[in-house]
Amino acid sequence: MTRHIELALIGGTGLYQFPGLDKIERHAVDTPYGPPSDSVVLGQVGKHRIAFLARHGESHTIPPHRVNYRANVWALHHLGARRVLGVNAVGGIRGDVGPRVLAVPDQIIDYTHDRLTSYCDVAGAEVRHIDFSEPYSAGLRKDLLAAASQAGVAVVDGGCYGATQGPRLETCAEIVRLRRDGCDLVGMTGMPEAALARELGLDYACLALVANWAAGCGGETEISLPEIFANLAAMTTQVPRLISALLA
Ligand code: HPA
Repeated sequence: MTRHIELALIGGTGLYQFPGLDKIERHAVDTPYGPPSDSVVLGQVGKHRIAFLARHGESHTIPPHRVNYRANVWALHHLGARRVLGVNAVGGIRGDVGPRVLAVPDQIIDYTHDRLTSYCDVAGAEVRHIDFSEPYSAGLRKDLLAAASQAGVAVVDGGCYGATQGPRLETCAEIVRLRRDGCDLVGMTGMPEAALARELGLDYACLALVANWAAGCGGETEISLPEIFANLAAMTTQVPRLISALLA
């Protein structure tokens, strides 16, 4: 296959391409779990080779509960990626993680259901119980936080990501429950991606982009989609700088 991939990025809502990639190759990977969300784009940031995959497809046609997480993570591993950064749009629950804040969570509570959550559930596969006490890779989180500080990108270190089923947003009561449970952020795509990455032995971390206050947290009656997209657009411009520093 191709040269070593230093980092793979899974882009979420608002991040459908990685700007400024050189020497692009597109790989339509066939996986035992069906097709990934889109072709995997391999390309260079300076002299560093990275992979990029749009989680919802490059035209955002796949909702969170229909993403083929197993195929996506498998495809990146198959192409040789060993470090994967998931970029996820989220709602902010905790007071210091409001719109336009970037955060690197350190815990997860999974509220999703009816998703294919493991590589163990195909006939004949060995049943493995991965350790998931710390769901994100400590090394990749540390490097990401150092890169952010070096690049002058403000990020919040830590927080618990509550993964909900979507595609609808939550009710105020659901967010009260998530807050009571200890969630600081809420998103629809953090799981099972993180667990699948662990099953394949990948280093995986999450860069959460806070697009809106979670239901009932911002005082507004309705969460506005144009506002979500405007907030995401303001944050995704910082991602290439952060990634360049991470690769340096
Ligand atoms: N809830 C769940 N997922 C999200 C949100 C939210 O408020 N905002 C962006 N993704």
